[in-house]
Amino acid sequence: MMSSSAIGSATPSETCTCVVGLQWGDEAKGKLVDLLGEDHDIVVRYNGGANAGHTIVRDGRSFKLSLLPAGVLNPRLTSVIGNGVVVYPPRFIEEVTQIREAGIEVGGNLMVSERAHVVFPYHMEEERLSETDSEGAIGTTGRGIGPCYQDKVGRVCGIRVGDLLSPDHLRDRLRRVVPWKNRWIQALASGGNAQVFDADKLTQEYLHYGESLRPHVADTCQFLRQSLQQGRRILFEAAQGSLLDIDHGTYPFVTSSSSSPAGIWSGSGVPARRLTRVIGVVKAYTTRVGRGPFPTELTDGPEGTGESIRRKGREYGTVTGRPRRVGWLDLVALRYAAAVSDVDELAVTLLDVLSCVREIAICTAYEIHGERRSDFPADARQLEAATPVLEYLPGWYGEELTQARRFADLPSAARRYVDRVAEELGVPVGIVSVGPDRDQTIIR
Ligand code: GDP
Ligand code: IMO
Ligand code: MG
Repeated sequence: MMSSSAIGSATPSETCTCVVGLQWGDEAKGKLVDLLGEDHDIVVRYNGGANAGHTIVRDGRSFKLSLLPAGVLNPRLTSVIGNGVVVYPPRFIEEVTQIREAGIEVGGNLMVSERAHVVFPYHMEEERLSETDSEGAIGTTGRGIGPCYQDKVGRVCGIRVGDLLSPDHLRDRLRRVVPWKNRWIQALASGGNAQVFDADKLTQEYLHYGESLRPHVADTCQFLRQSLQQGRRILFEAAQGSLLDIDHGTYPFVTSSSSSPAGIWSGSGVPARRLTRVIGVVKAYTTRVGRGPFPTELTDGPEGTGESIRRKGREYGTVTGRPRRVGWLDLVALRYAAAVSDVDELAVTLLDVLSCVREIAICTAYEIHGERRSDFPADARQLEAATPVLEYLPGWYGEELTQARRFADLPSAARRYVDRVAEELGVPVGIVSVGPDRDQTIIR
């Protein structure tokens, strides 16, 4: 197990950046983390688990990472899975193997917090059963995320990465937890099909995973604080988006972690006030996977604008392959998300995709039960009832943006669109992305 010595306070010149999504996920955070990684030394995931799907295109090769920080693609960087992440060890091992097979070195440059909680197959079974209730289903990724965080907060059943390194302790723990889980699963199934688990078999399996994880397991909180003191530059890679945040998102149609920068302090041990830059990633339109309110959703059928955007943007979930729901840019939701995440600048991504529509709409307010509102309601039922007030802007139909490398290369309508977003949110746009490749990026 790695160790690091005692730490003091950080230096004033530190660089601590967060890349955070401002919608319902899939804003192209992975691409930006990969790009910005060049200016940092450490990349940290602080929330979520293998529910994320971050696609990174590097040198013509595409990598899909669910659990590992995007920093692992650059062996110069140290990548950290923070204590706020929930770790499914088989996925960890699969992703490490995938990266090694691509010829990229992974060793001591990948660290996992001993405090991170572990996802077990009973979490997935619990989730499967609760998601079969069509009324209460959230449309989750099925990765056991919610039940694992429930166990963490409930304390009685939580098991952490550090526990996988102590055979007797893990066996004792699972012998207590598994019978309880089996009873719970059977109750959820109420006579229907349910998978039950054997504590000793799970112990064997997870001790084996523990051995694979052991070289990476560390007190990452201490490592990160010490790194700050040494002037190392840290990049936080949020999973999901601010509107999926457990506290600030469209509850209950959210994920079970703090996906805004609010999660950094608790999920990594780095105090929030050390953050020097928060980059809010905004897709040029909106997508959502799973259930929940989506006021600007386009439901205009297989020949409609929604489907054109879905096809051009390849809007299918990385984790589950589900078609993503597609809609116009929602400035009401974005103003709220930018405030929640306290962003310093914006990155507008997938702008090239909007070349497929003739006229582009943006939502500037909602009508809810006959009342015009510009605030983002906390109650999902009010959001469900919201009709978007749309403003139509001239598009740049048929003009490909993928070759643009300077802001001036963009058609004037596309420049106006980006400027409008900055104006509405009161935050400058520093980055514009016009394609999945690294070089398809405009830095202003
Ligand atoms: P993340 O979860 O926020 O990292 O985003 P995803 O990786 O789930 O989804 C973004 C998708 O868009 C990925 O397939 C990226 O390769 C791709 N992508 C990223 N930036 C751009 C862009 O500017 N234009 C286009 N057309 N695709 C992009
Ligand atoms: P990235 O990091 C988009 C959604 C699920 C579901 C809800 C809860 O790629 O942006 P969960 O499995 O977390 O309990 O599901 O959250 N969701 C995401 N949607 N991008 C993601 O991650 C997501 N992670 C979870 O679809 O609606
Ligand atoms: Mg994604």
